[in-house]
Amino acid sequence: MTTSEKTEQYLLQTYGRFPLTIVRGSGTKVWDDRGREYLDFCAGIATCSIGHCHPALSKAIADQAQTLMHCSNLYAGDNQADLAELLVEGIIGEPGKVFFSNSGAEANDGLIKLARRFGAESDRHEIITFSKGFHGRTIGAMSATAQGKIHGGFGPLFPGFVYSDFNDLAAAKAAITDKTAAFLVEPIQGEGGVNVATKEFLEGLAALAKEHNLLLLLDEVQTGFGRTGEINGWEPIAPDIQPDAVSWAKGMGGGFPIGGFWVSDKHAPLLGPGSHGSTYGGNALACAASLAVVQTIISENLIENVKKRETQIRETIAAWNHPAITGVKGHGLLLGAKLDESKLRIPEGKVPSIYLTSALIEAGSLHAPAGPDVVRLIPPLNVTAEEVDQMLEIFKSVLDNHLK
Ligand SMILES: Cc1ncc(COP(=O)(O)O)c(C=O)c1O
Repeated sequence: MTTSEKTEQYLLQTYGRFPLTIVRGSGTKVWDDRGREYLDFCAGIATCSIGHCHPALSKAIADQAQTLMHCSNLYAGDNQADLAELLVEGIIGEPGKVFFSNSGAEANDGLIKLARRFGAESDRHEIITFSKGFHGRTIGAMSATAQGKIHGGFGPLFPGFVYSDFNDLAAAKAAITDKTAAFLVEPIQGEGGVNVATKEFLEGLAALAKEHNLLLLLDEVQTGFGRTGEINGWEPIAPDIQPDAVSWAKGMGGGFPIGGFWVSDKHAPLLGPGSHGSTYGGNALACAASLAVVQTIISENLIENVKKRETQIRETIAAWNHPAITGVKGHGLLLGAKLDESKLRIPEGKVPSIYLTSALIEAGSLHAPAGPDVVRLIPPLNVTAEEVDQMLEIFKSVLDNHLK
């Protein structure tokens, strides 16, 4: 049996997969099982932040694997403590504490529990989340996700979420009741279509949270760790807001499974001994990997590269003035090319973003769709100028070949 035949036979068919088997990666390049090379502008869906098999990451994992992989949270762990210190002091830069999970959905479940504990003192439990958001697939994170297609057939959902329109401050204000405990929001909605929160919206939520004594919870699972061109994802939009808690995953592990959340010092005591936990969370191997990734993002000054490559992508696409692209959304290297479906030859019944992504893969560049009409450009943060040029050449030729 081939890999794709086995995948079909033995794996639950929960993913719509592209017909491709990737077996090797280096930097921004990956190779399939037939030896064909691709540019990776998907990067494990905004996850492989320092590229595939970066020597610092591979070495950290190999060294740690020969030292200690796992010892449980019954004891302290040096990598866990060092990583938490780096996240508090070097990433958030505000006094607070960190909890480690294994994924983004679990990190958001932690934020949900924090909001419940916070609200319990005053009989409040509702969390306001936003249309087209995405927070993950656990029952908690899925219920927080205001998208019917994610809920289909899984009801009843975990109660206590109130959905409001993204970027509509008046609606968010109107959604507040005497049961509201928190807002949970992505600064840029990655999965929902690379929808950028406005400065007014984020600042307005922060002000409402203060006024009504609510928590401002930011889901930085896709936006964190330099992806948006600043170390924290919200900074290019509303640098002055002060979240009460922030969830992370994806880019913090560079491909090694780890997530986590930060809680401000003021609210950290809400989650005391026995209130939350995870066998693998903060595992020695995962923390060694994450430490290497975050240190590399800082020491190689990847944020400067993110800004330069963003400019390169934006200027080149603007210069095309291409009829099939109506704009480039996002910040940093969380960018989405918005397609004009009416200008493209898309077979009946096909979703434009998925169809175009398939064509791009065939032409040698991996991407991820976001919503029905956006194709994401989310390479490793250390992608080179030359690789960006190569991708853009492929992108333009695919668009040209599909023009009506
Ligand atoms: C903003 C956001 N939150 C949460 C998640 C869920 O993360 P995970 O798949 O690691 O559970 C994702 C995944 O795409 C995400 O983009």
